[in-house]
Amino acid sequence: MQAVTGKQISFTYEYDGVSNPVLEDISIEIEAGEFIAILGANGCGKSTLVRLLNGLLPLEKGELKVWNLDPRQESRLWELRRLCGMVFQNPDNQFVSSIVEEDVAFGLRNYDTPEEEIPERVGRALSLVGMQEYERYSPHMLSGGQKQRVAMAGVLAMEPEILIFDEATSMLDPQGRREVLACLKQLHEMGKTILMITHYVEEVLDADRIFLMQKGKLLKSGSPREILTDRELLTQAELIPPLAVRIYYDLKDSGILLDRCPLTNEELVEELCRLK
Ligand SMILES: Nc1ncnc2c1ncn2[C@@H]1O[C@H](COP(=O)(O)OP(=O)(O)OP(=O)(O)O)[C@@H](O)[C@H]1O
Ligand SMILES: [Mg+2]
Repeated sequence: MQAVTGKQISFTYEYDGVSNPVLEDISIEIEAGEFIAILGANGCGKSTLVRLLNGLLPLEKGELKVWNLDPRQESRLWELRRLCGMVFQNPDNQFVSSIVEEDVAFGLRNYDTPEEEIPERVGRALSLVGMQEYERYSPHMLSGGQKQRVAMAGVLAMEPEILIFDEATSMLDPQGRREVLACLKQLHEMGKTILMITHYVEEVLDADRIFLMQKGKLLKSGSPREILTDRELLTQAELIPPLAVRIYYDLKDSGILLDRCPLTNEELVEELCRLK
C-alpha cells in the first residue's frame, strides 16, 4: 500500500504581490510503513512539502494522494489531518491545556470522539510515548523531551497512519532528542509511516530512505549510506557530510585509502584498525 504518491508537485508563496516559487516538480512515492528522512539546507522547502501532505497548505500544481485521500478534497481535510499527524519544532507552542491528559484529549474532543472513549485513548497514547505517569502534570513542569512526547501522544491519540516530525528534536537537549528518537523508532517498528525533517545527520541513519532536497527540488532519494557517503552530492545540497565521511575523504585526499567509506564513528574506527 502506498502512503503517499506525489506527482510533479510545485508550490509558490504569494505575498505583497511577490511570487516566491518554493517547490518545483517534486515527485515522490512513500510505501506504508516506511521511515523517510527529509534532508536539505535551510529554506529548501522541506516544511512546505510536508505541509502540503496534510493540507496545511493548499496544493496548487501536481497530483497528491495521501492514504488514498486527495488534499484538494476539502470535505475530507479533517480525515486527512487525523491520518497524517504532525509534530512541530517548539514543544512549548503545542500545548492548549494546563494538564497533560486534557492536552492529549484536545484533538479527540475536536473530532467529537465519544466522551467514554477518551480516557482509554489518552492513556494508550501516553503509554506509547512512556508518559503514562504524567497524566496529571502541568506541561510546564516537564522537560523539553517530555513535552515533545506529550505532543506526540496528542497526535497518536488520533490513531494516525502517517507521522510527520518537522524538526521536532531541534530545540531539545541530547537527552530529550534521544527520548523522542526512541519513541519515533518504536512507532516505526509498530508499522507507522514516518516522515522526519531534521538537520542532525546522525538522526537519519536508521531511515529506510532519505529524500535529499535542494532549492525546492528533490535532488536524490536513496538509502542513508548511498546519500550520506556521497561528498559531492552533499556539497551540492549545501550540507556537511557526517564526521566519519569527512575524515574518509580527507585521508583519501592525502593518499590514504580506506577499504570503504564509513558512515558512523564506529565504522570509521573499524576501517582505521584495518589499515596496515
Ligand atoms: N508563509 C510564507 N510566506 C512566504 N514565503 C515563505 C513562507 N514560508 C516559507 N517561505 C519561504 O519558502 C522557502 C522554503 O521555506 P520552508 O520553510 O519550506 O523551508 P525549510 O526547508 O523547511 O527551511 P528550514 O530548514 O529553515 O526550516 C523559504 O525561502 C522561505 O523563506
Ligand atoms: Mg522547515
